[in-house]
Amino acid sequence: MKTENRILLAALGSLALAACNQAEEVPPLGTAQQMMAQEVQPTAEIFWNAVGSRSELVDDEPVFTEWQPEGDAEWGDVRAAAARLGELGEILQTPAYSEGRGDDWIAYSQGLVEAAAQAEQAAEARDPEAVFEVGGTIYAVCSACHRMYPPEQLPEGVTVDDIAQPRPNEDMTLGEYVEETDAE
Ligand code: HEC
Repeated sequence: MKTENRILLAALGSLALAACNQAEEVPPLGTAQQMMAQEVQPTAEIFWNAVGSRSELVDDEPVFTEWQPEGDAEWGDVRAAAARLGELGEILQTPAYSEGRGDDWIAYSQGLVEAAAQAEQAAEARDPEAVFEVGGTIYAVCSACHRMYPPEQLPEGVTVDDIAQPRPNEDMTLGEYVEETDAE
């Protein structure tokens, strides 16, 4: 290799390093809003939707349906979602997200980490009732943080309590979900 090329490579190498160091300051999952919409909400929904029940009228007859994960793969997905929620709780505590928000922020994020650990245990034990119950605990943590740190901008007609509800359709954005429920 020619000397100039080596020097060039070395220079590029240290540029890359500098870029890495800088990246620590950059929120790894986008703004808090992006992280919530793209990571936290969909991951929580995998857990929330894993166990449930519904009654509906079929030919005027009430039909009650219950569901829960079946088999290794489905339980594995629920467990992975719980584990991911715990990681997201940790990431919320990093300076990129917690800077300037005070101790409560850390406490709520840690609350998410702890609820997620219970969620993981429930999935590991393949205990549908525990999954359902811990789902409620998780929702309580989400809501508590949103009341303390309400979003600056909410779509029209949305309140903090609408945020972080399990949505029937995972692909829906918050605005679409609220529009749909309002239309009912
Ligand atoms: C440590 C605090 C904290 C916790 C815990 C938390 N959130 Fe949030 N969340 C926020 C903040 C802050 C916003 C507003 C971000 C903004 O608009 O700037 C937000 C906004 C949202 C939004 C709206 C995103 C959008 O599209 O505008 C959703 C959805 C959401 N959170 C879901 C959840 C769910 C689900 C959980 C629990 C599993 C959760 N959040 C836990 C702080 C938190």
